[in-house]
Amino acid sequence: MTSILIKNIKRLVQTQKGNQLVRGEKMKDLPSIENAFLLTKGDRIADFGLMKNAPARADQEIDASGKFVFPSFCDSHTHLVFAASREGEFVDRIKGLSYEEISARGGGILNSARKLQKADEEELYDQALERLGEATHFGTGAIEIKSGYGLTVDSELKMLRVIRRLKENTDVIIKSTFLGAHSIPMEFRSDRKKYLDLVLNKMLPQIADEGLADYIDVFCEKVAFSVDETAKILEAGAKYNLPAKIHTNQFYSLGGIEMAVKYRAKSVDHLEVMTDEEIEVLKKSDTIPTLLPTAPFFLNQEHTPPARKMIDGGLGIALATDFNPGTTPSVKMPFVLSLGCIRLRMLPEEVVNATTINGAVAMDVENEVGSIAKGKIANLFISKKMPSIDYLPYAFGSNLVEKVILKGKVL
Ligand code: NIG
Ligand code: FE
Repeated sequence: MTSILIKNIKRLVQTQKGNQLVRGEKMKDLPSIENAFLLTKGDRIADFGLMKNAPARADQEIDASGKFVFPSFCDSHTHLVFAASREGEFVDRIKGLSYEEISARGGGILNSARKLQKADEEELYDQALERLGEATHFGTGAIEIKSGYGLTVDSELKMLRVIRRLKENTDVIIKSTFLGAHSIPMEFRSDRKKYLDLVLNKMLPQIADEGLADYIDVFCEKVAFSVDETAKILEAGAKYNLPAKIHTNQFYSLGGIEMAVKYRAKSVDHLEVMTDEEIEVLKKSDTIPTLLPTAPFFLNQEHTPPARKMIDGGLGIALATDFNPGTTPSVKMPFVLSLGCIRLRMLPEEVVNATTINGAVAMDVENEVGSIAKGKIANLFISKKMPSIDYLPYAFGSNLVEKVILKGKVL
């Protein structure tokens, strides 16, 4: 088994014990070791600690003087498989149209669906693989990827098969989510029940049968699915043992959070528009609020999630990119950390917790990744020389990820 010794690490970050969601006050604590070493053996973290206790040698040695070592980011919400970019809609928004207006006239998700339906699996896979490579170079080592640009039985299956191939052929830890209920295709707009029926009785059974999804998702929003429709989908998902991770409260508070909590959803994502009551509902649940600060930034949305209120109220939050061609054409986790600090007023330690261990919990991979611990998968990165942790979200224009290690192999 190949071993790598990373020596003279200025600070080895996120060495906390236990694999629980970090909540409330504790989000400010970021356990780490100064002047440290880390040893990998095969695909695992074999040991770490103070430099004075480092082993004499290993197959490969890396000097990390002046540099930080982080566990890889866990990006728990993305739409990484898509057929084409949508910069035309970006320009339409500059000219004054809103995201909802674009979507009401058949753009947005339906625009992506038309293109994806025409694309073949090979082409989708190649594009997705390239984007995943970009994600890893920004420090991501675990990622959740959704379907939802297929919106027909064949194309939803096609997307999920692409995700399965990424799982099988890369060293990134990947979870997949079935998002058939992302948008109602135009031809079903006069008979929504018919589309719901397709999702529940055609797509879901086949996807579950082939083991193609780990979670089920719904876009619960005025432009997409109602709270009642969301409930039907979560209930059906539960029958197939697919926990829910849902899109809700992006533009309106409609009751999606209460419904998600009722069905014990793994996470509720977006939350740009939140009431105090909804924060209270979350406090009484294990559902993880997942915030996606690059989406409202890119849409130039007035509202941002009340992260401070949530954390100060004791909640543990995760941060993710929401990488997709419509609302976040960026797979760059360090920028999510920066916006977490700038727009959500989170502290640097809080954004690191939210993108490592909490992101891992939000996609059920906390026993494998999300922190530096013996026996965990060696997915991590070495930073460039930096004066402090604070520098990472502060220097938002720099790429501070210097070297990436996935499953014990240097990229
Ligand atoms: O998370 N809100 C729904 N889904 C995506 C955007 C989808 C799109 O516009 O393509 C999101 O923002
Ligand atoms: Fe999303």
